[in-house]
Amino acid sequence: MFISLEGIDGSGKSTQARLLAQHLRGAGHDVVLTREPGGAPGAEEIRRLLVEGAGDRWSPETEILLFTAARRDHLERTIEPALARGAVVISDRFADSTRVYQGAARADLRTTVDRLHALMIGLEPDLTLVIDADPAGALARGAARGGAEDRFERMGVPFQQRLRDGFRALVEELPDRVRLIDGSGSPEEVAGRVQAAVGQLLPAAPRPHPA
Ligand code: ADP
Ligand code: TYD
Repeated sequence: MFISLEGIDGSGKSTQARLLAQHLRGAGHDVVLTREPGGAPGAEEIRRLLVEGAGDRWSPETEILLFTAARRDHLERTIEPALARGAVVISDRFADSTRVYQGAARADLRTTVDRLHALMIGLEPDLTLVIDADPAGALARGAARGGAEDRFERMGVPFQQRLRDGFRALVEELPDRVRLIDGSGSPEEVAGRVQAAVGQLLPAAPRPHPA
């Protein structure tokens, strides 16, 4: 089972990915918690090129190639081996981020993103949860976190609004796989909504019989 969490910067994805991993481990599942861009040593090196530096450092087209290169490494080294041994993989972002950031919000390149995805990745999550949050509030939370990884956050509130619209459009387009989760309230309240959505697809793992 492959689950991805998506949403705008600062929407609470990482927090929810961590809480979901804890919850599923508690239910007896083998869980691999990972993230993009990154999730494997080579992909983490590519991540630094993408999330640091000036906004115009890369064109949207070059970004598509770099995110896809990082994703291919992540897929080969982390995701596929974990799925092959039967683990539940939870990824903080995956290909829908490229569809929305590079394919809709930065540029109108969705066809290019989809063609490269089909050629180089070819895997979709079983379930994708979009954590829906107000752009101004999410951006403020992200800024409070500090650090140098703010290349996309510096593109401002109107950009985050376009991203939110893009993620919501994806929920409409792919309702069987992509679900919208209300990201308001405490982390525990949001986690309850996430668990309800995942629970519909993933029953508790069978407990090993006592010896
Ligand atoms: P993302 O991965 O989407 O950027 P994070 O999970 O890192 O978001 O959350 C961004 C910041 O907001 C963090 O400091 C986190 O502790 C805080 N946060 C996350 N979820 C909530 C919530 N439901 N309410 C208030 N603060 C939250
Ligand atoms: P992330 O560390 O998840 O940022 P945040 O915690 O702020 O949400 O991701 C880094 C940035 O990379 C984020 O701004 C979104 C962007 N991104 C893309 O533009 N395209 C992609 O395909 C991916 C995976 C991320």
